[in-house]
Amino acid sequence: MPDDAPDIRRGLEGVYVAQSAICKVDGVEGRLYYRGYAIEELAANSSFEEVCYLLLYGKLPQRAELTQFNEALVKERELPEDIIYLIKALTGKERAIDVMRTTISALPAYDSETYDSSAEANLRKSIRLISKIASIIAATGRFSKGEGYTTPNPQLGHAANFLYMLNGTEPEAEDAKLLNKMLILHAEHSSNASTFSTMVAGSTLADLYAAVVAGISALKGPLHGGADEQALAMMRAIGSAENTGRYIDDALSGKQRIMGFGHRVYKTYDPRARIIKSDLEALQNSADAEVKNLTSIALAAEKIMVERLGKTRNIWPNVDFFSGPIYTALGIPPELFTPLFAASRMPGWCAHMLEYWRDNRLFRPMEQYTGAVGLKYVPMDQRE
Ligand code: SDX
Repeated sequence: MPDDAPDIRRGLEGVYVAQSAICKVDGVEGRLYYRGYAIEELAANSSFEEVCYLLLYGKLPQRAELTQFNEALVKERELPEDIIYLIKALTGKERAIDVMRTTISALPAYDSETYDSSAEANLRKSIRLISKIASIIAATGRFSKGEGYTTPNPQLGHAANFLYMLNGTEPEAEDAKLLNKMLILHAEHSSNASTFSTMVAGSTLADLYAAVVAGISALKGPLHGGADEQALAMMRAIGSAENTGRYIDDALSGKQRIMGFGHRVYKTYDPRARIIKSDLEALQNSADAEVKNLTSIALAAEKIMVERLGKTRNIWPNVDFFSGPIYTALGIPPELFTPLFAASRMPGWCAHMLEYWRDNRLFRPMEQYTGAVGLKYVPMDQRE
């Protein structure tokens, strides 16, 4: 390689772009911490609302602080009439993730603070985004079933209200508790592709809405947040636990990627996947026939993949693999999985933006030019 060849790190693999006190991902030991708290403790004890507060403010809230934060979230659940109309107009014409991205892009029309870059205004916008994105997804789910918009229920917590707005009936406490845990598990994950995209857009001093729209666009891809929907589609294509081995061996020999496995940072089992897997196993007895079958396929696939690629190539289950059967058990359709991932990750995106803006620096990497230089312009009639 010529001496002046730069050290190009494709995909920025292994490159540190900032310091942050929000999230530690230990890819060797398979550990995850939000603001110093292990994900296992937060998943077992906290609420999504409390984790949002922790990510945004950097500490667990005292009772009065959480009460005030919850009230602010509840107040922001309502959607402007025009936004409801826009969701209805777009649902069925484009995918739910695109309806959500388009609708989030329209929210600044109803937020007079959009261009107020103060930390206080950005915190208020974070609360609006965390609440409204969930209402947008629920409304999309309703309209895609040909049903009407369900106005939010201020008596319910964030997870319970989402299920209420989606299904039109108050959820069982167990279902709300399970969704609450899934939201916590997906809330933050350091400089993943969508968070980094949010930060790149925000580093130009674009507003918070513009920054998170960049994050949503990045999350959509099947290599990132889109994997959960694809993993479920694979389980449905496999059809039964007995078919799993042949399906996976055929896919791997055809150089296909098995969605829900592998990770740029975790070279061991994703701690979030462990938690979701145990919830799925606990759910199995009470679940309906479809979820039971999906679970048996998921567990069979995990066993085979761990044997085939886990122990040999450090390709392990990630957060997206077991999520599909859980969401299916909660009555959430596959096309809402990735939008729901975005709704979970909204506090993470906002927390990183607020932190980065405190010591902002425009992201502008280099690329090594490999083309020609000094060419002379050739008039059209001399080009033939
Ligand atoms: C998320 O970054 C985050 O933190 C993301 C996330 C978060 O919370 O924000 O954790 C959420 O996005 C989880 C990942 C969801 N995506 C998937 O499940 C899609 C399937 N997985 C992959 O495509 C892959 O594992 C990535 C994209 C997740 C990571 O890929 P890398 O680090 O870029 O690794 P690579 O693509 O270079 O793969 C290395 C080798 C390749 O084989 P070779 O070309 O060297 O022969 O491993 C193989 C890959 O083909 N490989 C897989 C595989 N994942 C990697 N082979 C089969 N199935 C897979 N799933």
